[in-house]
Amino acid sequence: MTTDRDPTRLRVIPWGTGTVGAEMVTTIIDHRPDIEIVGARVYSDSKNGVDVGTLVGREPIGVTATTDVDKIVALDADCVLYTPRNTNLDEVCALLASGKNVATTAFLFHPRRIDPADRDRVLEACQAGGTTVHGSGLNPGNLSGALPLPLSGMCRTIDKITLQERADWSVYESTSITFDNMRFGQPVEDISTEASEFLAFNSGIFTEQVWLLADALNADIDEVTATVEAVPAREDHQIFDRVLRAGTTAGQRWTSSGRRNGEVLVEIETLWTVGGEYPGHWPKPQDGWTLTIEGEPSMRTHFFCLASFTRAASMEEHVRSASVATGMQVLNAVPAICAAPAGFATAATLPLIRSHVGFGNTKA
Ligand SMILES: NC(=O)c1ccc[n+]([C@@H]2O[C@H](COP(=O)([O-])OP(=O)(O)OC[C@H]3O[C@@H](n4cnc5c(N)ncnc54)[C@H](OP(=O)(O)O)[C@@H]3O)[C@@H](O)[C@H]2O)c1
Repeated sequence: MTTDRDPTRLRVIPWGTGTVGAEMVTTIIDHRPDIEIVGARVYSDSKNGVDVGTLVGREPIGVTATTDVDKIVALDADCVLYTPRNTNLDEVCALLASGKNVATTAFLFHPRRIDPADRDRVLEACQAGGTTVHGSGLNPGNLSGALPLPLSGMCRTIDKITLQERADWSVYESTSITFDNMRFGQPVEDISTEASEFLAFNSGIFTEQVWLLADALNADIDEVTATVEAVPAREDHQIFDRVLRAGTTAGQRWTSSGRRNGEVLVEIETLWTVGGEYPGHWPKPQDGWTLTIEGEPSMRTHFFCLASFTRAASMEEHVRSASVATGMQVLNAVPAICAAPAGFATAATLPLIRSHVGFGNTKA
């Protein structure tokens, strides 16, 4: 326990300093004097004992990262920035019960609608620690759980909400995610909503988003179902260190549909390819995210995230911009999460999350 803490600063612990976690850490170091990093959980032995600043290419900040979970749980902090590759509910419950809020990009986007046994465990941990958990990001996150809500403020009534994400993952360098976790390059019959823990998890987080919108906008749906269609490649593709062979999975169309009396009211669809062969029979929204609200009035907005629209940027920078957006959505929410009542926080219950730094011009 620290005794000489500065009451004006929030104390946080990054849990994971991968792509998204590192964006949060550099932002805190560079832009957030109101936030203090008091520890960091890492996984790689090579990061164990290394100063957190050094890990993200900054000057040392005098706080070393550790692989020791017990040490992290024992630390006194306001919030854990939880961004691991694989989630662990036991860990999150331990953090919440120990009095630390949890802000995550990885899961718990609408905990009210997860498996009831898990939901109850998380809620008990929040109540024990007087803490709040909030999951968000880009998608799942702002686009699927937040943006539709202020747009709906212009609607008299709503008939249907659809969010389509169209992305070609060929430029995404983490081929362990695309080829191993997501199973691109594997037989099409090996892709299903239950084919692996990861695919089931991935399908589940979008299902949660459908429930979130439905719950926030009085859709009173009775079910959310998930389907996936896998489409084979016509030819071989070299994708960084891997070869995606002709005949193996090059397209995955995931659809989570929320229905009331059999009618689809809320739908989230991801149209994903690796290798750039876009299936002719799929819908053809622009790359990026297309949000459609059918109602009175009906509206459509297209979202695209780049490093810049005005200066030249490398593909790597453009790809990274989605990780920046993901990290910022959650980091910017930290003060609101810490101030929220114990339990689950979503975009529907938190105040509007905006850029904390913004233009960065504060009055003298
Ligand atoms: N909501 C959204 O819009 C959105 C968007 C992008 C990503 N995400 C999620 O955010 C999280 C972080 O994404 P990322 O792009 O930063 O991933 P990443 O770059 O692959 O980073 C992965 C992190 O996982 C850690 N890790 C290593 N081995 C692990 C293990 N066995 N179990 C758990 N974690 C392990 C790594 O620690 P070391 O560095 O110490 O090895 C690293 O901190 C993921 O859960 C991802 O799905 C969400």
